[in-house]
Amino acid sequence: MQQMWSDIDAYIESHLIPEDPILTQTLKNTDDKGFPDHLAVAANQGMLLQMLIEMNKCKRVLELGTFAAYSTMWLARALPEDGYILTIEGRDTHAALAQENINNAKLKQSVELKVGRAADIIRALPADFEPFDFIFIDADKQSYPEYLELCLERSHSGTIIFLDNVIRAGDIMNPENVKPSIQGIRDMYALMQNHPRLRSSTALQTVGSKGHDGFALAIVK
Ligand code: DHB
Ligand code: MG
Repeated sequence: MQQMWSDIDAYIESHLIPEDPILTQTLKNTDDKGFPDHLAVAANQGMLLQMLIEMNKCKRVLELGTFAAYSTMWLARALPEDGYILTIEGRDTHAALAQENINNAKLKQSVELKVGRAADIIRALPADFEPFDFIFIDADKQSYPEYLELCLERSHSGTIIFLDNVIRAGDIMNPENVKPSIQGIRDMYALMQNHPRLRSSTALQTVGSKGHDGFALAIVK
């Protein structure tokens, strides 16, 4: 099935995703430096992120898990020139690659990359730090419940929270799989269920060039 899913993603991309030298350069530099591409979002997923931000006229974006900053480029494309992105990466090697890709992109929007554990960095933001309009959680999966709670503290009514990798090829349904990354996602679902600070939540399974996975989406009350 994987070949067909990848072919269909390529078909969608060739029709609906315009070429962008910044995105192409980001992927090429990531590949040239020997980093894998499966950690990044697919182009059609990046476009969905961009469109959600555009539809809601978001200006301040928080991203947890920068990796190569490919998704960051999609987030930036959605923003007006006075838009702001704070993106947080826990691994030094990924952060160095991301900073290089961000520098090469010469984006008009302000993109700030911080390196360290996302939970520590969010906690260290000033208490009066202006809340974010859109939050993309894509860092270590075992910390998703903690990240969700911390992100809620940095949200306002109407903030959109988008979480990547919430299906993991169905691993979340396998009771024998008790890996911290999978348990973290299960705990995230339990936390989202009837959370007093969330207005609406859902999750969608996806198949495509990145396999069988999915994303969750929530609106802050
Ligand atoms: C992994 C992480 C991701 O965020 C992703 O989109 C795909 C895979 C991983 O850690 O394997
Ligand atoms: Mg991901």
